[in-house]
Amino acid sequence: MCGIIAYTGTQQAAPILMDGLRRLAYRGYDSAGVVVQNRSKLKALRAAGKLENLAARKPESIKGTCGMGHTRWATHGEATEANAHPHLSNDQRVAIIHNGIIENADQLRTRLSNEGVEFLSETDSEVLAHLIRRELDSAENLLDAVCNTLKIIQGTYGLVVIDSEQPNTLVAARAGSPVVIGIGENEMLVASDTTALASHTREVSHLLDGDVALITPKGMQVRSLDTGLREPQTTQLDEHTAETGRGEFPNYMLKEIFEQPESLARTLGGRLDKRFNTVRLGGLNVSARELLDVRAVKILGCGTAYYAGLSGAHMIESLARLSTSAEPAAEFRYRNPVIERDVLYVVVSQSGETFDTLAATREIQRKGGQVIGINNVVGSSLAREVDGGIYMHAGPEISVASTKAYTSMVASLALLAVYLGRIRDLSPEAGGQIISALEALPAQVTEVLSQSEEIASVAAQVQNAKSAFFIGRAAAHPIALEGALKLKEIAYLHAEAYPTSELKHGPLALIDENMPTVAALPNDDLLDKSISSLAEINARRGPIVVITNANDPRIEKLASHIVRVPDTHDALHPVLMAVALQLFAYHVANALGKDVDQPRNLAKSVTVE
Ligand code: G6P
Repeated sequence: MCGIIAYTGTQQAAPILMDGLRRLAYRGYDSAGVVVQNRSKLKALRAAGKLENLAARKPESIKGTCGMGHTRWATHGEATEANAHPHLSNDQRVAIIHNGIIENADQLRTRLSNEGVEFLSETDSEVLAHLIRRELDSAENLLDAVCNTLKIIQGTYGLVVIDSEQPNTLVAARAGSPVVIGIGENEMLVASDTTALASHTREVSHLLDGDVALITPKGMQVRSLDTGLREPQTTQLDEHTAETGRGEFPNYMLKEIFEQPESLARTLGGRLDKRFNTVRLGGLNVSARELLDVRAVKILGCGTAYYAGLSGAHMIESLARLSTSAEPAAEFRYRNPVIERDVLYVVVSQSGETFDTLAATREIQRKGGQVIGINNVVGSSLAREVDGGIYMHAGPEISVASTKAYTSMVASLALLAVYLGRIRDLSPEAGGQIISALEALPAQVTEVLSQSEEIASVAAQVQNAKSAFFIGRAAAHPIALEGALKLKEIAYLHAEAYPTSELKHGPLALIDENMPTVAALPNDDLLDKSISSLAEINARRGPIVVITNANDPRIEKLASHIVRVPDTHDALHPVLMAVALQLFAYHVANALGKDVDQPRNLAKSVTVE
């Protein structure tokens, strides 16, 4: 959720912090702040609203080579300047930035207030600054003071602390919220994700839950709260981690939509095995023999990842004939699920840091289940905790609404479906058909993208609607769900998806000339039945936008607008149709003047419950 960046080294800290915050702004963007060690004082600046408000206060004017910055997504207390991080102790000696939730903050606040501490914000995080300051009176150093404090708090944290009396020293800690340390030459950085580090260094070390690290320009020392000192492991960031800017695009969302031919090619690259009409999945860590024993598949994820999982479930059922379902990770983990030995659990996440997806993974593993991940961020918490998996290699996704990660998730699930299918009854011929269709996908996405202008004019016709329905049948229903989600997220229009077959069971009551319906209509066995439903909508004067690969004169008669997508294998409609729906949502939002990259109230990576 919140973005964290910290620096200690030989360069001026503030410009590095501001650059890091710009790269992290997609994590949270309701307020921001920095603090820098300036001689023996801490100088902090904060501002409510977008990062430009902080930049306008000229943080670069604070000189110093050690400091930290934070961009917030509010959990406790509104998005005001007072609630923005960093939070400082009353004597300004200690500053903290925090991502997560301190669950016993209320009791701690009361206790500290009784001891005379003055609270300046409504946040749960502020208690950390006061507690650490109090511990410093008796502890030997900042590291001990932080460790002592963490023992009395309950909750989750990615935390960085700075003490005005310990020059060039940072202490970072992690429990449930990601913290990664970037290792440079005579400089070290700390961040909530690698996007903020890649322009400085490729060598990074991920803190584990329960770790506390002492960081100086020369290196770091890592202590586990449970087991004492431990040797930190370092890894190299992959070449796609560095975010390359928006290029000629007006925002990241459009850039990422247009990047999909390349991101999909990377997801598929080197994995299509045309000789044996199957796929190669090197990182799965489960043998074909073990997979033969799998009787069912369960896919888990949140938001867009869940919807990609729903499409994956259809693909696996139809190609591998394995009973497969998808469920929101948060719901799954709270219903005391039965975990079975012969079920393959698949967790899907772009960031690999979504709290509920991680918690579901841990619950399954605790109960002895086998979990594989479909994940974009190399080295993320999820990637490190699953038993094996598929990296999507979609490249960094900055815009909050997921686009290229979604299509790469679906493509990765298609790869898994083919692999599982070819171990079972999917014939070499049928395997070959989907392999060829996968191979054709990047170029077909380019064809859909070339219709962006036409889709913009369709969007212009519905932008004034107050609400919209999205429909699709069977495998097309998840496409409708994803299309509706995109419109909600970035255009703030109420959108509801339902299976086309449910029309007569309620939604029809709302159909009139002001209620547009967007239909995902693949040319499959259900086409005739879906066309009948469109006729029922049309008879009530409901405007219909059809996304289809079918050339059927009946559609021309019924639809107000048709967006054509290329023919593909039945399993892969979600990719091509989703690209059309992404453009549709984008153009509606753009026409309404919304900030598509940073929609209100949302955050890219939901690292709290
Ligand atoms: C947030 C984002 C969504 C995303 C979901 C899951 O809600 O706003 O765009 O789909 O988290 O994120 P993940 O990183 O696990 O795919």
